[in-house]
Amino acid sequence: MNWLKWHLYLAAMCGLQMLLWLGSGLTLSLIDEDYLDSNRYRVDAIHTPIGTALHFDPERISLSNAVTEIRLDNLLSRPVYRVQLGEQSMSLWADTLEPLKLDDTLLREIAAASISVPLTPELQYVRGNEIGFPDSAKVALFQSQTARDTRVLVDADSGKLLGHKDMGSDLKELLLMLHFMDYAPGNGIAFNHIGIRVFALLTLLMVFTGALVVWQRWQAGFYRWHKADDRKSNPCLFVLDTQGSALGQFCAGPSLLESINAERPLLPTQCGGGGSCGLCTLVFIDAPPTATEADIKRLGKKVEQGHRLACQHGTYTGRVRLANKAQERYWHKQCQVSEPARNENV
Ligand code: FES
Repeated sequence: MNWLKWHLYLAAMCGLQMLLWLGSGLTLSLIDEDYLDSNRYRVDAIHTPIGTALHFDPERISLSNAVTEIRLDNLLSRPVYRVQLGEQSMSLWADTLEPLKLDDTLLREIAAASISVPLTPELQYVRGNEIGFPDSAKVALFQSQTARDTRVLVDADSGKLLGHKDMGSDLKELLLMLHFMDYAPGNGIAFNHIGIRVFALLTLLMVFTGALVVWQRWQAGFYRWHKADDRKSNPCLFVLDTQGSALGQFCAGPSLLESINAERPLLPTQCGGGGSCGLCTLVFIDAPPTATEADIKRLGKKVEQGHRLACQHGTYTGRVRLANKAQERYWHKQCQVSEPARNENV
């Protein structure tokens, strides 16, 4: 299994989300708070109550279910009973005990009383879970005459004012959605939703595959300890061309590919050391290192003849030769001489 490839894919996904998280968080903290406030036209008027709440007697009213909760509220200054019947709910005018019937006119009155600017004649009904109010089945949406596209949202079943929205709050919701990774529309802002769980799982997998890559590389000799002087006194890798003529000698690097390409790119690569392109194949003349999974997957039976991917192996002492003429031509072209060049980075 090429764990490096999986690790890179996972790192790209997690990295992108981290950038979104960072960018949205920074924007939220730097942007002017007033710009994000959608309540600049909101009126929280205190009305003098009209009417007196009558005694609520469930026995005298035919109800579909047993009453589990009663709350006294007020709507446009009139008292209202909010009655919970198990999963269902209903509202009654408390001064007459008549059921609360909300038509377009009454909903408009409620919306207009909450804002200091006139509403436009438009009225639109939307489902609550489409606009971030999952607890409201139906929401009446009124537009107002402001440059900020202010909208008033009223629960069409209970008459409760849900809030005001405008271009500032739209931007805030977008930034919060990116920051909390909450990409389900109308979900409201919440922690521990499916998006965060998926991201946490991807991050764990990224760490796990990263540990596997380190383990594979350690086994391939990538992380050997070298004293500073070793680089000068112990050249370890001798590279020959396909005919057996010396091309250069190289000291230890993170991988054989990086040792050879330390000063100039003498060995070609397309995957950048990912173990998938096969362009860095070398033939090990002396005892070849143990073949890695990437060697076996990319080179098949050739591993038995000493072929290995230079990007998949670390420190090695001995001789290797280029695997084909194309590599040789590339090497000489990089050296810009027709004669084999001797690398002096020892
Ligand atoms: S650089 Fe691509 S397989 Fe080694």
